[in-house]
Amino acid sequence: MFSYLDHSLYCEQIPLADIAKRAGTPCYVYSSQTIRENFRAYDESLGDLPHSVCYAVKANGSLGILSLLARAGSGFDIVSGGELYRVLKAGGDPAKVVFSGVGKRSEEIEYALENGIHSFNCESEPELALIDALAARRGMKAKFALRVNPDVSADTHPYISTGLREHKFGIDIHEAEGVYERARTYANLVVTGVSCHIGSQLLDVNPIFEALDKVLALVERLRAAGHAITHLDLGGGLGIAYREEDPAPEIRTFADCVRKRLQGRGLTVMVEPGRSIVGAAGVLLTRVLYRKRNVNKEFVVVDAAMNDLIRPALYRSHHDIMPLRENDRPEIVADVVGPVCETGDFLARDRTMANVAPGDYLAIATTGAYGFVLASNYNARLRSPEVLVEGDKWRIIRTRENYDELVRGETA
Ligand code: LLP
Repeated sequence: MFSYLDHSLYCEQIPLADIAKRAGTPCYVYSSQTIRENFRAYDESLGDLPHSVCYAVKANGSLGILSLLARAGSGFDIVSGGELYRVLKAGGDPAKVVFSGVGKRSEEIEYALENGIHSFNCESEPELALIDALAARRGMKAKFALRVNPDVSADTHPYISTGLREHKFGIDIHEAEGVYERARTYANLVVTGVSCHIGSQLLDVNPIFEALDKVLALVERLRAAGHAITHLDLGGGLGIAYREEDPAPEIRTFADCVRKRLQGRGLTVMVEPGRSIVGAAGVLLTRVLYRKRNVNKEFVVVDAAMNDLIRPALYRSHHDIMPLRENDRPEIVADVVGPVCETGDFLARDRTMANVAPGDYLAIATTGAYGFVLASNYNARLRSPEVLVEGDKWRIIRTRENYDELVRGETA
């Protein structure tokens, strides 16, 4: 939903320069249409297979985004009490919430029980014991799935690959049956599912299907042993095209394959997509402050920095950088850097890009996922506002922080 018309970059029907001028920069802008379409692609392609699309809140937890997805019928995958709070604030249905994560604290578990979430994706035996004890205290039964680690290797950045034995996540698939067996003794736990998640930004879906096959075989063994498994949670992880040439999987094709493999097995399937729903729906707008040259190197200094978008610094990730107004000057090769006092503060390196001048605006593309959520106040920089576009309208869904908010809760 981002395209040029008469040399101006638009989000849906709004020229992004209008937003940059009125909301200021840096500023995140999201297309509601893209988010809704991506959600529907999962929902419609899973079709008549009983399913629940649980959007992974960690990718972008802004209330405006969560509320849009809640209204579209989405469930939510959360990893903290704070994320549950956000979902409830945005009008999400707690009965469609799954709670994942390797280190749930008792207050968080109690908060989830109190609000009647769908189920817990558990990652260890001590966690099962804790949930059982807390559910007993409330006189409740808690539904759970074990997150198993299927030991498949997903070809992605090492920081976001999770499905190998050496990773901290899940319970080794070979040990899972023993854990399910021992869990029978917990009076306040009800087993309902099996879950897995092997990594993020997966451009090849084969490892996901390899994991699915292993998990399906486990489901059959568990059922044969008398465990009533009714749902299978496949996790998230579908990759998106950060570069035009990336071989990104189509959501519809992927979900179609999932539906075909799971039809007739008496299982409700859950998926936990984050990036593939919001990633391509967002851009970070920034303004060029200076051009400078150090010996042979050209720098474009902009007003967005690693505190606004950390992905290039942390993962060396690529984000296209597009001018809000195209010009016909010959392109340049430059590093696009921010004001933060670190050499790692770059948004692009050796990038062939538009020949921009101070005052020009740029859009850093594909930043709807793991963009704002990872923003910080480093260098006492104010976190940017967020804008949601809907057709020919736009609204601010988060205001820019101010200096009062910057020191909120502090005492001198
Ligand atoms: N479910 C679980 C259990 C997860 O750990 C994750 C992501 C997801 C679902 C959603 O995955 P997605 O569909 O978004 O790939 N900060 C990194 C990504 C970290 C992903 C962590 N887990 C980045 O910027 O690339």
